[in-house]
Amino acid sequence: MVKIRIAEDSSHLGKEAGSKAAEMIRHAIEKNGYANIILATGSSQFETLKQLVEEEIDWSKLTMFHLDEYIGLPESSPASFRRYLKERFIQKVSLLKKSHFINGEAEPLKECMRLNEIIRKSPIDVALVGIGENGHLGFNDPPADFETEQPFIIVNLDEKCREQQYGEGWFKSVDDVPGRAITMSIRQIMKSGQIICSVPESRKAEAVRDCLEKPVSNLFPASILQTHQNCICFLDKSSSALLARKGAF
Ligand code: GLP
Repeated sequence: MVKIRIAEDSSHLGKEAGSKAAEMIRHAIEKNGYANIILATGSSQFETLKQLVEEEIDWSKLTMFHLDEYIGLPESSPASFRRYLKERFIQKVSLLKKSHFINGEAEPLKECMRLNEIIRKSPIDVALVGIGENGHLGFNDPPADFETEQPFIIVNLDEKCREQQYGEGWFKSVDDVPGRAITMSIRQIMKSGQIICSVPESRKAEAVRDCLEKPVSNLFPASILQTHQNCICFLDKSSSALLARKGAF
């Protein structure tokens, strides 16, 4: 069962999620000498990353994998997720051991194959993820592929997902939101030793209820988290408003 923590607001949520992620990263470094993590992007990660970069971590022992990226979008776009990660994470910490970005401008199949080869040799200690308004995990929109063993896949983005990206102000119009992306697959995300899921804001309340309290279904992609052994979902008062079970579990 997913553990749930409900914070007062998004800023407290980020502090708790970022410190918990740091604790797990430090533990993995202590145990193995290094740590491999996955970073998501989007507005759900703003506060969590803000806290993470303030933490005492030996960054030279950390390898980062990038969760998802639009196909065809240049890094100069304000909506580019590799730009996001560089501005909000990489430039705020000292040099990492390695960063594996998804290059959305490369030939997509070849880019997936390149990343697949690397991540197959890199067991992930901690994944930081969010849940989209349509319940997506990474860019695995409903109905998500729960079966593929490919670590990185090419997906089409559904209307609700594209509207969310426009609504958050990343693009000037819905038509500007790319129709395709490369995302880490559901099975690959689920292979992570620990998962920290940060989901602030009232516009996520329905998705949070559907994914955490309804039966696991690829129509609510993040519902798969219910089957993970070590997943903590950090919510705030507004994103948790529709949940029947409340409080810390
Ligand atoms: C986004 C990102 C993901 C993120 C997820 C939820 O669109 N591509 O990296 O995990 O979807 O986050 P948010 O709702 O903040 O966009």
